[in-house]
Amino acid sequence: MRILGIETSCDETAVAIVEDGIRVLCNIIASSKEMFGQLAGVIPEEAARNQVECMIPVLRKAMESAGATPQSIDAIAVTKGPGLLGSLLVGGVTARALASLWKKPLIGVHHTLGHLSSPWLDQTEEIRFPVICLSASGGHTDLWYRLSHTKGTLIGRTLDDAAGEAFDKGASILGLPYPGGPSMSKAAEDGDVHAFDFPLPLKEESHSDFSFSGLKTALKYTFRDLTTRDATTMRNLAASYQHAICNHLIDRLKKALDQYPRAKEIHVVGGVSANSHLRSLLGTFPLTVRFPVKLSYCTDNAAMIASAGYFMHRELGDAAFQSFETEASLVLQMA
Ligand code: KG4
Ligand code: ZN
Repeated sequence: MRILGIETSCDETAVAIVEDGIRVLCNIIASSKEMFGQLAGVIPEEAARNQVECMIPVLRKAMESAGATPQSIDAIAVTKGPGLLGSLLVGGVTARALASLWKKPLIGVHHTLGHLSSPWLDQTEEIRFPVICLSASGGHTDLWYRLSHTKGTLIGRTLDDAAGEAFDKGASILGLPYPGGPSMSKAAEDGDVHAFDFPLPLKEESHSDFSFSGLKTALKYTFRDLTTRDATTMRNLAASYQHAICNHLIDRLKKALDQYPRAKEIHVVGGVSANSHLRSLLGTFPLTVRFPVKLSYCTDNAAMIASAGYFMHRELGDAAFQSFETEASLVLQMA
């Protein structure tokens, strides 16, 4: 089954075609990140305007690079939320128009279910459920206990900022460009992760929730009180802050593993899963740890939306086709 996926929840305009939920035939992404590089974040109206311009060229490029025709597509899957309203509208309207023109069924996908579907893109190995999945991006930081490709329970979430937001806001404090994750990571290269002391959030708590706002505040005051801002100091500060965010994510994952000992795999998804320091720290975990195989599958992309649409159809049958209109796309249960 070939699904054409569309994702426009934030500032990307993305179209992909995926076969049987796994084989990515094309994954085209146009981003307006450079436009927001000098600012602290995305301006919603600007992002949506840019998406209106990019949508048709990106769609055309996707069809051409996969050698696809409308007849060879079986269904359309589109992110229906959460996200920026104007941006979601661009993707939603395009998907509705295509579904109507090409006479294809339409599947509405929850953005988080898309991220949770990214570890099996381009993978031939069978996933062994149950899986504990950490989904960390700019908009959310969640822990899921997953029983199948579409079913699972939310077992932890952030109480304030998301992990990606902690990178973005931290980068802004240090004067680094948006998005903060990659720029903080670059600034931290060869830095000493123990040069500055940051607290481990929620250390005494046994639950699996997250909190990043204290780290951000600690960075703000540490930066303000620096006696020197030479290159080594700044490198060490970025490295210590990045380490503190990653350490908190890992501490919560360990707690979740204690609570759910039947888990067979750990998955880490979302923009923050591209972080190489986090990946190296997770190298020591006792279970199979999977990340999306390409960095372009970590950040927002349409291949993950097409994949989620496929598995929704496989596990829900034709009810998946009502998901654009109903809440059925949220087959994950919120605990
Ligand atoms: O999943 P995503 O593309 O969009 C959302 O759904 O939010 O995630 C974007 C977030 C941003 O906050 C960005 O700073 C962060 O992911 N990010 C990273 C890295 N690449 C992107 N964070 C840490 N290290 C990275 N290499
Ligand atoms: Zn996302």
